[in-house]
Amino acid sequence: VDPIGNRRLQIFRTLTARFPAGRLLDLSAGHGRFSQTAADAGWRVTAVDARGDRFPDDHRVDWVVGDVRDVQVQGYDLIACLGLFYHLTLEDQLSLLARCAGTALVLDTHVDNGRPTQPLSGPVELGEYRGRLFGEELQYSTAAWGNEQSFWPDLESFQRMLASAGYGVVLECAPWYVSDRTFWLALPSA
Ligand SMILES: C[S@@+](CC[C@H](N)C(=O)[O-])C[C@H]1O[C@@H](n2cnc3c(N)ncnc32)[C@H](O)[C@@H]1O
Repeated sequence: VDPIGNRRLQIFRTLTARFPAGRLLDLSAGHGRFSQTAADAGWRVTAVDARGDRFPDDHRVDWVVGDVRDVQVQGYDLIACLGLFYHLTLEDQLSLLARCAGTALVLDTHVDNGRPTQPLSGPVELGEYRGRLFGEELQYSTAAWGNEQSFWPDLESFQRMLASAGYGVVLECAPWYVSDRTFWLALPSA
């Protein structure tokens, strides 16, 4: 039993159940359990990951090996971005949010909130955003794809990044399931 994994699945099921089951894009699906959970609830799921090695053999889901930096994100009712955001550079985070704009987003990420669960750099300021850098260990199947450093925005910067992409309402799930990480439901402004 993995209590954190089970809690994450519970949050994901609860958030996605607020929407009529439609087309869901799971960015960085990895082991595929979130995709399968959505398929269980009747969603038509496209699951993308740069590494396909952990995709399960489940024909209900359309499994795609690809980089989220290139993938087509239009045409979905809901986009899941779970365990991915904190593996991207700031530039790629902003580009991804801009491409997802207009579609509801379930996002699960670490942020730089002063209660780190991983070793991080000292504070950095990149353009108008503040946070810290995370050094990637690219040999792991859960790591970034290509970039040796990722950006963990502080909470205020993270909220501003979402707002800049047109996510006018952002619900934060509490309690946070680890000290620096939770789920957010980001909804485009009406
Ligand atoms: C921490 S795992 C998260 C897996 C799953 N979504 C979850 O939340 O449990 C990160 C995943 O992101 C994938 N990934 C990292 N950078 C990526 C990129 N640029 N494009 C596609 N997948 C990427 C990795 O291959 C890995 O499977």
